[in-house]
Amino acid sequence: MSNVWSLWIVVLTITNIVLLLWVLLANRKQAVVEDDQHDSHDEVKTTGHVYDGIEEYNNPLPRWWFYMFIGTIIYAAGYLIVYPGMGAYQGLSFGKNKAWTSASQLQAEQVQAQVQYETTFGEFAKTPIPELANNVDAMKMGSRLFLNNCAVCHGADASGNPGYPNLTDKDWLYGGSPERIKETITLGRKAMMPAWGAALGETNIANVVEFVLKRAGREHDKTKALLGEPVFAKNCAVCHGADGKGNQQVGAPNLTDDVWLYGGEPQELRQTLRNGRNGVMPAHEQMLKPERIHLLAAYVYSLSHEDAAQ
Ligand code: HEC
Ligand code: HEC
Repeated sequence: MSNVWSLWIVVLTITNIVLLLWVLLANRKQAVVEDDQHDSHDEVKTTGHVYDGIEEYNNPLPRWWFYMFIGTIIYAAGYLIVYPGMGAYQGLSFGKNKAWTSASQLQAEQVQAQVQYETTFGEFAKTPIPELANNVDAMKMGSRLFLNNCAVCHGADASGNPGYPNLTDKDWLYGGSPERIKETITLGRKAMMPAWGAALGETNIANVVEFVLKRAGREHDKTKALLGEPVFAKNCAVCHGADGKGNQQVGAPNLTDDVWLYGGEPQELRQTLRNGRNGVMPAHEQMLKPERIHLLAAYVYSLSHEDAAQ
């Protein structure tokens, strides 16, 4: 702010306060003089204004009111000495504390909030995941973290979307133990389901799909399923297991439970087999601090444990 404007504001402010003080004191003097002239209190002077027969008394301000005004003026003067208000004047500094600014106050409060926040996260981080999943406050924070970071893919209620697994059931691609969930969030996962179109051809794909449908307990073509069985044993069992129950080390889903990531209709299964599937769960270790990942893992854990706090 240039000196001229600063001075302009200082002059305006002081003039205003002085004027106010003058108005206040001038009126009071008049009232006191009038009081001296008329020792009888019954006879009060009027201003001479008459409205429909109603006259206006010329009473002085009540004493308490007068002092209240004086008080506000003293307060204003004090305020303008301590805080910045007079042009470029920055207000008083106390000892090591610099003069007050709204920016520095905001900053100080933010630092304090951050410390409090990090302390809370720090305490949560020391709590084992199954125990943390029972902490109502922690799960509220976890839910907010989930909405901000995960809901876009897994849905606000974590029940998933085609290609994005449901996190509220007990069906796990990579495992639902606290350690596995944490690992999934931290390092991410890349699923490798190869494309079989070229290697197997349409007939084999059609047959193995009927076999998968049979295993899942769905309606299927018996003859084709029989032909599909050896195809499965030769090509698929290595990842999905001889029994088709999956392998959490490679994220190969259980194909026998009728829970589908990409859809369980015959044409959807054929699509999966022809082109393969490569679901990607992004790694979050660069995006989220370890305490937050710990809290999120507890939140995910709580979703499939009915006894946990929600
Ligand atoms: C960009 C989309 C995306 C985001 C964001 C995302 N995920 Fe995932 N997540 C996936 C996909 C896709 C998979 C399945 C990967 C696969 O097909 O193998 C997955 C898998 C998982 C799994 C493994 C489930 C199982 O059955 O083993 C967990 C747990 C998980 N995500 C938690 C989270 C959490 C917590 C967040 C938030 C920090 C998150 N995800 C954010 C896409 C996402
Ligand atoms: C190299 C390991 C591997 C082999 C071999 C493999 N799969 Fe998979 N399969 C996976 C993985 C991993 C996924 C999960 C893909 C994802 O999450 O994106 C998967 C997914 C699937 C799905 C989708 C399940 C769903 O819930 O939507 C079907 C169906 C399937 N595989 C069938 C087969 C069949 C049939 C064969 C043999 C012809 C086969 N797979 C061979 C690893 C394998």
